[in-house]
Amino acid sequence: MPLDALLAEIPPGHPDEALARQIQSDQLPAHVAIIMDGNGRWAAERRLPRVEGHRNGVEAVRQTVEAATALGLQVLTLYAFSVENWKRPAGEIGALMMLLKRYLRSELKTLLKNDIRFRVIGRPEGLPPDVQEELTTAIDRTAGNHGMIFNLALNYGGRTEIVDAARRAIEQGVAPADLDEERFASLLYTAGQPDPDLLIRTSGEVRVSNFLLWQIAYAEIYVTETYWPDFRRQHLLEAILAFQKRERRYGGVTPVAGAAAEVS
Ligand code: IPE
Ligand code: IPE
Ligand code: MG
Repeated sequence: MPLDALLAEIPPGHPDEALARQIQSDQLPAHVAIIMDGNGRWAAERRLPRVEGHRNGVEAVRQTVEAATALGLQVLTLYAFSVENWKRPAGEIGALMMLLKRYLRSELKTLLKNDIRFRVIGRPEGLPPDVQEELTTAIDRTAGNHGMIFNLALNYGGRTEIVDAARRAIEQGVAPADLDEERFASLLYTAGQPDPDLLIRTSGEVRVSNFLLWQIAYAEIYVTETYWPDFRRQHLLEAILAFQKRERRYGGVTPVAGAAAEVS
């Protein structure tokens, strides 16, 4: 049964079990994208330096990746560092890069065990060389896997991505008449992947902050007040349950239950 892997990870009687049992396994979002936000406020509430928020955010990443793969998602994308985040103090940026390296080193085994394909979206060439090295190792070592795609958005900007795609179109000599939405999507960092069905943002902020601008055209948006370091399997399951109650119309009309076939 499709949710067996998830249920196997939940201790019997744990509150997440009841949540997991409500999920309709045939109506899962193929791709979930998360704007991980609120690390700084999590730390401030505890009178801790911001970096402590990031440090605790790593555990949330670990647990979210494991829950997403057990759930059977095709793609999970986490927004870790935006092109705008370079505006932050050098000490905070350095700590984020150090945590990223440490995460990649310690989690590679788990990614391999879970058959996860690790990828980076963004401009990794703009990251410090030692971070790039660690990323390349994780990408290469997991490239032959067949399970969930785990995209980490690093030095990522939605507008930058669209500009990069336009540049590629020009470099490849794509004729204007051949450039349709499908072709353009194939030039994005997420080429070949389904668009996010569900976009989650933590910490209560209701904005997109330059994330996956093209791909979220029809994503369902779910905002939770939970700060990222507190985000756990429970919150992912709650977001998916909310998603499964939405009615997606894609610009069409509401299907009316039991209505007679339309007469043309
Ligand atoms: C998200 O938490 C982590 C990154 C953007 C890297 P923040 O650091 O933005 O936390 P807040 O929004 O200041 O609380
Ligand atoms: C979005 O969070 C970027 C990431 C999660 C990496 P920010 O905290 O940078 O976004 P704003 O500044 O609140 O829009
Ligand atoms: Mg923030």
